[in-house]
Amino acid sequence: MILVNDRFVERTEATVDIEDRGYQFGDGVYEVIRVYGGAPFLLDEHMARLARSLREIRLEPPYGIDELTDKIRRLITLNALGDGIVYLQITRGASPRTHGFPKNAHSVLTAYTQTLDRPLQALQEGIRAHLTEDIRWLRCDIKSLNLLGSVLAKQEALDKGCAEAILHRGKTVTEGSASNVFALIGGVWFTHPANHLILDGITRRSVLRIMQELDMPAKEEAVTVEQLLAAEELIVTSTTQEVMPVVAVDGRPIGDGSVGPWTRRLQEAFEAAIRETANRSS
Ligand code: PDD
Repeated sequence: MILVNDRFVERTEATVDIEDRGYQFGDGVYEVIRVYGGAPFLLDEHMARLARSLREIRLEPPYGIDELTDKIRRLITLNALGDGIVYLQITRGASPRTHGFPKNAHSVLTAYTQTLDRPLQALQEGIRAHLTEDIRWLRCDIKSLNLLGSVLAKQEALDKGCAEAILHRGKTVTEGSASNVFALIGGVWFTHPANHLILDGITRRSVLRIMQELDMPAKEEAVTVEQLLAAEELIVTSTTQEVMPVVAVDGRPIGDGSVGPWTRRLQEAFEAAIRETANRSS
């Protein structure tokens, strides 16, 4: 089933107007929520970020966030989702094409589930990443539907045989094309501060909390490309990639080119959080 505004409908019944502003302008926001063993992971945090994104683009959702949270849980149950994701987006709705906000359009909410296995092999072995200039806009803190900068960066990485693109503005590393970046330098984890240049990842925040619990020093401070390449360990974090080790950047090994001990400890703690969520639902 698909959630379209406040109705659960079959996939074939879910249609979008060709003049929907999400389709024409990317005028909307979205969330990707992980589901483990039928239980949504960090759902309230995703919903709080969604509410913030909506406020920042002055978009009124069709109904309140509490009701939406209930409907997302219902969608997971209706679709009997085990391990997977919920994709959810809200657009400014359909109206004759004009850049300014239309007066009579109603926002359109759609959400669906998708089965997705955890990337266990990559989590074990690590991935390779590719550095590329961050060409995105200056409000990366909003989870906007406009993803062209991220799409182009990711494809460039894939074309080079890498699983993720790490973005930099000039010398400064910002984040991944669809993830946040942490570099272990001199025994301290560094990650870009949560300002307009990055998306404040829900996984990023969860990992920062874990670092605190494990007494691993962490600083929300940007690093340079040069520092990143000299890091002892490197990870990218996201809803779907979890705590993903990066073992090489543009062909240069990070550390000794294998997954480091600090990363393994973080992964173990993250696994424990996942297990807790999945157990709660069973
Ligand atoms: N992307 N930075 C960017 C640019 C992202 O697109 C994402 C996530 C993140 C990590 O955020 P979180 O930990 O909340 O997933 C950081 C999602 C997963 C996507 O677009 O598929």
